Amino acid sequence: MEKKRGTFTGGLGFVLAAAGSAVGLGNLWRFPYLAAKHGGGVFLFVYIFMALTFGFTLMITEIAIGRKTGRSAIKAYAQLNKNFRFLGYLASVIPFVIFAYYCVIGGWVMKYMADFMVGNGMQTVADGYFQGFMKSLWSPIFWMAVFMLISAVIVYLGVDKGVEKFSKIFMPVLFVLIIGIAVFTMTLKGPHGTAFEGLAIYLIPDFTGMTVGKFFTVLLDAAGQIFYSMSIAMGIMITYGSYMPKNTNLVKSVNQIEICDTGVALLAGMIMVPTVFIFQGVAGLEQSGPGLLFIALPKVFEAMGFAGNFVGVAFFLLVAFAALTSSVSLLEAVVSIVVDKVPSCSRKKACTYVLVLSLILACVTCLGYNVLYFEYTLPNGVTGQLLDIMDYVSNNVLMPIVALATCILAGWVLKPKEMIDEIKSNGESFDRERIYAVMLRYIAPFFLILIFLSAFLTA
Ligand code: PHE
Repeated sequence: MEKKRGTFTGGLGFVLAAAGSAVGLGNLWRFPYLAAKHGGGVFLFVYIFMALTFGFTLMITEIAIGRKTGRSAIKAYAQLNKNFRFLGYLASVIPFVIFAYYCVIGGWVMKYMADFMVGNGMQTVADGYFQGFMKSLWSPIFWMAVFMLISAVIVYLGVDKGVEKFSKIFMPVLFVLIIGIAVFTMTLKGPHGTAFEGLAIYLIPDFTGMTVGKFFTVLLDAAGQIFYSMSIAMGIMITYGSYMPKNTNLVKSVNQIEICDTGVALLAGMIMVPTVFIFQGVAGLEQSGPGLLFIALPKVFEAMGFAGNFVGVAFFLLVAFAALTSSVSLLEAVVSIVVDKVPSCSRKKACTYVLVLSLILACVTCLGYNVLYFEYTLPNGVTGQLLDIMDYVSNNVLMPIVALATCILAGWVLKPKEMIDEIKSNGESFDRERIYAVMLRYIAPFFLILIFLSAFLTA
């Protein structure tokens, strides 16, 4: 029996939901760090170029696969070619694993947001506060559960009444918040200089020490960042593509999603680089990830004095919204996979089952910092706990494989024409058609292989 699939009510809902997925922690805690590391404007230029070519190709291919088949990853690949059934299974594991550990990080964000909201923000500055919190037994589990339940309620409400509605409200709020904080940042000055000096580090290309080899690293880092930032190879864009109204212009939608994702990343850099530079100097710019968000930034807010309390609240609200819209997309992808695979299971039931399983996996992940603590050195030289291993396996190993196999399927087994026909199925023009075909068949696979190989090289 064919059940009615959820759909977005219109193009805007689709774009905001997909942008909500794309805009996440990657934009806020990794992009600014990469820009500061790789010569400011040099990285920005390379990133934008790669987003318009590499990122565009991967994203539009996944959405086109979703729209063409009307299925989530688990069925979509098999429907296109029987030999690619395995890819559906592989791609379905990814959002499930990521959802569990992403909610753990979402919980950390919730905890900091709550701290700042009740006026305890300045306590987070104490040495070892973050480590102490993670090592405690119940607090990380509690906040993870809060974050996960909010995501689950949104997905439970449905594609249009939950995911789309939520994105339509919170994405504009997120844009307003990030623009507001960026403007405020420009008024700051502190022990190491002014915001404009920090902005110069961020925007002006610095070619010092740039060799061909180094430039290649910049290119590869930009490609890796785009790949993650655009939520590619997580089954999400296929699922969202399957919910897309058939008459939506695909090229225009992908352009709009890219503008949102890259715009937020650029603004995040405008906030992070100057603030960290002003209060901690150039050395501070070497931080990314949780260290930047939960250790360096609270110190910056403290240094701002009284205003820091309010900036802290606004900032962690922003991070919470960005993380929530991403986790919602992950859960939606998993739920849609279950519903496609087990047609007798209703959406709501699927949502409940997935929630229970994810809660268990996420609890185990939280325990990785205390009861189940161990240290493991990954093949890329990074030492980490359970969460880092889950992150590594999904992002560095599985996702490049899935994206590469998708390029092979779309570019070599099916041929780009089939994708291009789907992209243009409403009669719209596709001016990057030829570049698209070359990107899909040669250049994107080349970068994906390099991204995959770099997972096994020590930094
Ligand atoms: N695109 C997200 C980001 O930049 C990555 C992500 C998407 C992670 C969806 C989890 C879920 O952070």
